[in-house]
Amino acid sequence: MPGGRIVAKAEYLQPGGSVKDRAALAAVEGARARSSLLPGQTVVEMTSGNMGAGLAVVCGVLGHPFVAVMSAGNSPERATMMRGLGAEVVLVPQIEGTPGKVTGRDIGAAAHRAREIAEERGGFYVDQFNNPDCVAAHETTTGPELRAALERIDAFVACVGTGATLIGTLRDLKRHDPRVLGVAVEPRGAAVLAGEPVTKPAHLLQGTGYGARPPLWDDSLVDEFIAVSDDDAATERAALGRRGLYVGYSSAANVVAARTLLAGGRLQTDAIVATVLCDTGLKYQPSEAL
Ligand SMILES: Cc1ncc(COP(=O)(O)O)c(C=O)c1O
Repeated sequence: MPGGRIVAKAEYLQPGGSVKDRAALAAVEGARARSSLLPGQTVVEMTSGNMGAGLAVVCGVLGHPFVAVMSAGNSPERATMMRGLGAEVVLVPQIEGTPGKVTGRDIGAAAHRAREIAEERGGFYVDQFNNPDCVAAHETTTGPELRAALERIDAFVACVGTGATLIGTLRDLKRHDPRVLGVAVEPRGAAVLAGEPVTKPAHLLQGTGYGARPPLWDDSLVDEFIAVSDDDAATERAALGRRGLYVGYSSAANVVAARTLLAGGRLQTDAIVATVLCDTGLKYQPSEAL
C-alpha cells in the first residue's frame, strides 16, 4: 500500500455546485471593472452546465440577465439548475456525442450558437476558453487557499476543461515552491495533452477532455499526464459516495489520478497530493454511467 495523502477542495459545495463558480465570479467582476460589461447588460456563455450555474448565481446577484448555451448532451439536471438560478437556457443538438457524453465538436456547436446569441442581443460573451480572468481566479484563490490549509503540497492534480483550474492553481503553487508537481488528468482515449491520438472522443468526464489543447494551456507548468478510464472514474465515484462525498465523474477521475501518482513512486512516501472535487453528483443522471 503506497503512503501519502490525498487532499481535495470540496468545490461541489459552492453555490452553483462546482469549481466553475470561481471562474464565473472573476470573469464578471473583471469585465465590469474594465467596463466591457455594463450595469444591466446581458451576459451570454457556452457552458457544459457548471460555468452556467456559476454565472447564473453571479449574474442574479449583480443584476445581469444571463443566457446559458449548452449542448443537449449535457445532463438535463444542469439545465434545470441553471433555470432555477434564473438563467435562460438554450440547448444545442449534439453533432457526434450521445447524451451524457459530450465531444469537442458538440462543444464547438454550442460555442458557435452562443456567439450568435451574444451578437443578436448585444450581450457580453464570457468566452471561458479564452478568458484569462478564469485562470487568474484560481491563481488568486484556489492556490493561496490550498497553501494556507496545508503544511506542504507535493503535487496538484486536476482534470482539464478550459485548463483554468489546473493552470491558474499551478501558477500560484509553483511560484511559491517550484518543486510542486503539476499533473493533468485526461479521459483515456482522449489524452491529447499527453500527445496521444483521440480514439474515444465520447467519455464520462463531462466538462473536461475535449480532445484539443485549450487556448489558455501552459506546457511549462505541467510535469505529468494521467489518463483515467470511464470504468475507473465510475467505480471511484461510487466509492466516494459511500464515504459521504456525492460528486461527479471528473472529481472521481482526479482522485483516481492522485492515487495513481502516489502509487507510481515518483513522490516521497509521506507526499501530500492536492486536488479538487469539481462538482456535485446531483448534476448527473444515473443512465450516464452506462
Ligand atoms: C465537472 C467539471 N469538472 C472539471 C472541469 C474543468 O475545469 P476547468 O475549465 O477549470 O479546466 C469542468 C469545467 O467545466 C467541469 O464542468
